[in-house]
Amino acid sequence: MSFLNTTEVAFGLDISDRNLRLIQLEKISQKIKIQLYNEIKLPPDCLIGGEIKQPKVFLDSLNKLIKTRRGHGQLSDEVISVLPEEKTFFKVVNTPLIHDEQIETKIKEIIPQDIPIDFNEIYLDYQIIEKNDNGLNILVGIAPKNIIESYIEILSQANLIPTVLEIEAAPISRLLLEQSQDQKPQVIIDIGAQRTGLFLYDKTVKFTISLPISGNKTTQHIVETLGLSWEEAEKAKIVCGLDKAKCHGALLEIFSDVINELNDRITKAINFYYYNFPEAKNIARVLLCGGGANFIDIAVVLQEKLKLPVIISNPFETIANPDKTFFNTQRSQSFITAIGLGLRGLRPDTFL
Ligand SMILES: Nc1ncnc2c1ncn2[C@@H]1O[C@H](COP(=O)(O)OP(=O)(O)OP(=O)(O)O)[C@@H](O)[C@H]1O
Ligand SMILES: [Mg+2]
Repeated sequence: MSFLNTTEVAFGLDISDRNLRLIQLEKISQKIKIQLYNEIKLPPDCLIGGEIKQPKVFLDSLNKLIKTRRGHGQLSDEVISVLPEEKTFFKVVNTPLIHDEQIETKIKEIIPQDIPIDFNEIYLDYQIIEKNDNGLNILVGIAPKNIIESYIEILSQANLIPTVLEIEAAPISRLLLEQSQDQKPQVIIDIGAQRTGLFLYDKTVKFTISLPISGNKTTQHIVETLGLSWEEAEKAKIVCGLDKAKCHGALLEIFSDVINELNDRITKAINFYYYNFPEAKNIARVLLCGGGANFIDIAVVLQEKLKLPVIISNPFETIANPDKTFFNTQRSQSFITAIGLGLRGLRPDTFL
């Protein structure tokens, strides 16, 4: 789903509140490789919830990201970037068989039945996924106008040509699902520092929701319950995880409510799918990605609750890893969005 035009070759730029990540891919005899890559930290408060609060600081950081890039070859001046997950969403709607020119009006009638929306403040994009005797199955993407406009403006100021801005479920599913042999209906959970996104995938993204958990909230919870400093808590989180044998299972205990909440939200999302999508098939698994997927034993603990297979994504299943020191196990999960955006740069015809 794109809110701008398509492009020939472009690099992917993942913008999160605290990090900028760059990926440019190349295709050499059917093999996809990372050509250029980089990551830099953004100063605190430069971006809050995806809104650019300090444009000058953002621009300096973006220029630094580009200047200090690793790899080989020339960087494209065309960029494919991502919109903040918590401010955007995808949703599939079903309509009767109607003419193309009636679709947008129909969507604007259907969407507000579930979600309050001011259509003057958002951009809407859609794609027909299926057309049959019963009607149309349409994937709708929604994103705020002010965010889109501010991203275009700032990228242009960096002398880049923003060609596509995507909702985050698009690059994630492009890398982890479309490239893979495994196309089972599944729930994908991207656990980031600031926010967690959940989406349901069955041949395409069916809907997305934002979950009220995050890596930072997890660290904060350790700070408050164990009386540690932020740095100590972050370290404890990484070293102990949810392993019963580590740190006397302390974190497993203090996170039991968070795990129950996560279990509850995932179950609700799956039930929402079963009740609202006539074509729904059994959900085969839950796939975890993003930095928070590195939380030791999170998959084991969730799987016990959900009674569904829970697995950790493998971002480099289909892409050659040029630098195992840089893209180590820990960091690889954080680069999924950037690589998925880079893939769109190689495959300009791809919808999702
Ligand atoms: N081994 C680990 N155990 C637990 N949490 C981890 C581990 N490694 C990283 N994290 C957490 O992952 C989070 C970072 O995830 P990620 O890099 O995907 O976020 P981001 O893309 O920068 O931010 P966001 O997507 O929220 O905008 C941090 O909260 C970090 O503490
Ligand atoms: Mg992220």
